[in-house]
Amino acid sequence: MASRALWTSKLGFILASAGAAVGLGAIWKFPYMAGTNGGSTFIIPYILFCFTIGMFLLLAELVVGRAGRAASINSMIRVGRSRFWGIFGFIGTLTGFLILTFYSTIGGWCVAYAVDAATGGGVITDMKLLGEYFNSFVSDPWMSIFYQLVFMLMTAGVVIFGVQKGIERLAKYLMPTLFILMIVLIIRGLTLPGAWAGVEFMFSFDWDNFNADSIFNAMGFCFFSLSVGAGTLIVYASYLSEETDLPQSTAWVAFLGILAALLGGLMVMPPVFAFGLEPTAGPGLTFVTMPAVFGQMPFGQLFAVLFYICLIVAAITSSVSIFEAVTAALADLKFSRRNAVPVAFIAVMLIGIFCTLSFGELADFKLFGKTIFDLLDYLTSNIGMPLTALGLAIVAAWVNWPETRHQLTTTKPLSPWILNAIRFGIGIVSPVVIVIVVMRSL
Ligand code: ALA
Repeated sequence: MASRALWTSKLGFILASAGAAVGLGAIWKFPYMAGTNGGSTFIIPYILFCFTIGMFLLLAELVVGRAGRAASINSMIRVGRSRFWGIFGFIGTLTGFLILTFYSTIGGWCVAYAVDAATGGGVITDMKLLGEYFNSFVSDPWMSIFYQLVFMLMTAGVVIFGVQKGIERLAKYLMPTLFILMIVLIIRGLTLPGAWAGVEFMFSFDWDNFNADSIFNAMGFCFFSLSVGAGTLIVYASYLSEETDLPQSTAWVAFLGILAALLGGLMVMPPVFAFGLEPTAGPGLTFVTMPAVFGQMPFGQLFAVLFYICLIVAAITSSVSIFEAVTAALADLKFSRRNAVPVAFIAVMLIGIFCTLSFGELADFKLFGKTIFDLLDYLTSNIGMPLTALGLAIVAAWVNWPETRHQLTTTKPLSPWILNAIRFGIGIVSPVVIVIVVMRSL
């Protein structure tokens, strides 16, 4: 334990954790979820969930990780003081691993579209042609697996350099780059005539569109977008010194996560509205609708390249965090990093190939009515992450509250009132909400 690597700075940890949270969720999933769930009727509950249960659960992960000083399974066993709690750590690790198998499929698409945009291939204005182009790419097994492999090699290539030289260094360069690129793209989008309709769609609340589905979707997306319950933040916190203030770090990570999702929405919605395209296109919004936007925009090719680079940057900082969670779990089994990385890489690719093929050769292969990709997406977001978070909440608030209290106050004392409010949020509000989400999913 004494030789466990530590982040070189608090900023490095916050940027790496924000990088874990800000990913395809913010730029790919958020705009289309907002688009298909009535805009603000999804966005406003999402923000409320993030600032409440999202933050409480994030804090519980950081507490357990820093106190346990190990990957999810061992941290849960140590802090929970029973092997039983290791089961939740195991579910978290498995959830992270499975997320990576389908995340790398989309990561591969982003790399492919960036290459395509750079070479002028993807900038077409005809939506029908773009749809066909997208379908033919995702159903081509060789190309899509090749790009998935490239994306995973980039991910593993960072993780093999370790916490300081790999992950922290990457986050320090890429996170500011990501925010700058997003702002450039937002300014470009907002200066198009008619773009303001996209902003109104995101922020003007319409009671007619308000329904239970948009609330539940907002809750599920809150888990995914903050990476709560996939073991990543437990592992990142296990590299954190006692001098870092956990509540403050949690607030930063949640704030940056929400900000990135809102910026992701502002990057996509205004130009979509400006060109009269459909915000409800679903998952294809990024890969079918956005190329049409760039096709009609002055200097569209340049902005298309920047947009897909943004996606890759966001995706890689998240995939690195999940990959690190899996690597750290192997390290707890006495694997060296040099051995753990290739083992995790091969395991992710072996299952990831099936996720990628579920858009082509395996499109008709369904389990419980879903393709392999959809099934893994569903199981991880709706069951794996909430269940892991439930275990975390119980351990942090009830099984070992003295340890949690210690972790919350390593840098400065907190009043009993604040400590009780945090305990209530982690130990009562969060489990109740999680149970509702899981029951509804089942
Ligand atoms: N939190 C990561 C994302 O949103 C998984 O992409």
